[in-house]
Amino acid sequence: MSYTKRFDGRKFDEMRKTEAKIGVIKRADGSAMFKIGDTIAIAAVYGPRKLHPRFLQNPSKGILRCNYDMASFSVPDRKRPGPSRRSSEISLVTAKSLSPVLDLSKHPNAVIDLFIEITQANAGTRCAGITAASMALAHAGITMKDLVSSISVGKVSDKVVVDLDKEEEDHEEGATDIPIAYSPRTKDFTLLQLDGNVSKKELKEALEMSKKGCEEIYKLQVKTLKDHFKGEGK
Ligand code: CDP
Repeated sequence: MSYTKRFDGRKFDEMRKTEAKIGVIKRADGSAMFKIGDTIAIAAVYGPRKLHPRFLQNPSKGILRCNYDMASFSVPDRKRPGPSRRSSEISLVTAKSLSPVLDLSKHPNAVIDLFIEITQANAGTRCAGITAASMALAHAGITMKDLVSSISVGKVSDKVVVDLDKEEEDHEEGATDIPIAYSPRTKDFTLLQLDGNVSKKELKEALEMSKKGCEEIYKLQVKTLKDHFKGEGK
């Protein structure tokens, strides 16, 4: 059977409603919230600050240390608290997807600590985390070549769609999830993961859809940051 109508009525290339906010964690050097549908990510940045223990310090460049976590109450079936293989993997790919826009050589011997907490999860949490994190890094005043915007694309049954929700990910005829991170100014993909199967043609279609989605998210990121800094200047 073909997937002719999305469960929540969206068009195939339509993402869920988005919202963004800067400065949600007052004591952090930079912070942001990004919401897409029911998925909510909060990111907090501390640093650059001296890296301890000292033997980990690199005099030629700093490190971006990311910690992704999903709160126990973020999903209906309580998630076991604490780190997991999944959270380690997401922390790693998040740092890798953000590193290309940073110039860590500006921060010798230092660490930029990035914490991502998912307070509500309905698929696409790593993407929401990356989008929030990139705003939090900018809010912290870290020099960046660009922001990174992130969205998941994929296939539900036979249809290429943007921003799958959990119900779609669990479609009985199968789903393919392709989390993407993209730097709209440099036009570089900084993350591409693929869980499932797609043809070359479908992948191309999905990537085009992801670019469009990321560009939309980018506009919201820029506007939210500009509005925040304008407000601070008053
Ligand atoms: O969240 P994301 O799509 O980046 O990663 P995933 O590992 O593909 O997880 C997909 C979704 O499954 C999450 O967004 C949650 O809604 C759900 N999930 C869950 O209910 N319990 C977990 N322990 C992990 C994920």
